[in-house]
Amino acid sequence: MSVDILEIKGLTKRFGGLAAVNDVSFSVREGGISGLIGPNGAGKTTIFNLITGVYKVTSGEVAFAGKRIENLEPYKIADLGVTRTFQNIRLFKNLSVFDNVLTACHMSAKYTIPEAILRLPRFRREEKLLADKARGLLEIMGLADRMDVQANNLPYGLQRRLEIVRALALDPKLLLLDEPAAGMNPDETEQLMRLIMDIRDRFTLSVLVIEHHMDLVMGICEHIVVLNFGQKLAEGTPDEVSVDPKVMEAYLGSSGGTAC
Ligand SMILES: Nc1ncnc2c1ncn2[C@@H]1O[C@H](COP(=O)(O)OP(=O)(O)OP(=O)(O)O)[C@@H](O)[C@H]1O
Ligand SMILES: [Mg+2]
Repeated sequence: MSVDILEIKGLTKRFGGLAAVNDVSFSVREGGISGLIGPNGAGKTTIFNLITGVYKVTSGEVAFAGKRIENLEPYKIADLGVTRTFQNIRLFKNLSVFDNVLTACHMSAKYTIPEAILRLPRFRREEKLLADKARGLLEIMGLADRMDVQANNLPYGLQRRLEIVRALALDPKLLLLDEPAAGMNPDETEQLMRLIMDIRDRFTLSVLVIEHHMDLVMGICEHIVVLNFGQKLAEGTPDEVSVDPKVMEAYLGSSGGTAC
């Protein structure tokens, strides 16, 4: 029997007079890859900000693994196992690829500040474990040969990949990806699709992905939620939503192009 890891009910977020998200309900199946799509300004990123506690909800519920999390502090939500990447890449641009991942790994460090200052054995043991973890993640994600490169100097597609590695360093159970293929060429997008499926299997996690590249969404998502003007327009399998007249109308009416 399938279990839902994320359940969103009647979620609403108002900014002044604008309902950026309006009474939206949907679920993400444990171990699944779900897609959140819709034209620009539909409310997709706002939903990520509500799930991760960046924004307080106006009304509605967000339950993760059966526990209500709406309005918890962002770090508590991350501790429970919900991590994300950002639409606009957020890396420490002047640090190396390795240090970018190591700083993320440090979020789970167990030693105390005095132990760190005095460089006590527990600190040194833990530091080695964290460095091993960072190296292991970079190997799995195909960035091991770029460990010493400054993040700024990575090609754009690899910067996006590094963001995913940083999110994985927090040991998520649910990974939220906000337009991971933005700015990627078709080859990079294809590689990213395989990578996301590989991550899901290898780390046994669930994924909710926002994306405008329809090839990616249709290729890897088993369930898709379509938003328009803050409201849920449709949901279902890729086959179901792609022939839904309401969805087609929303996209034809938007400035879309290859975007959804
Ligand atoms: N902090 C904020 N204050 C005021 N309005 C906001 C805020 N954040 C988002 N909005 C508005 O909410 C609406 C939804 O924005 P959101 O960023 O969630 O859209 P999106 O679906 O992610 O779009 P895109 O595909 O362009 O990234 C937009 O009209 C946006 O201007
Ligand atoms: Mg967005």
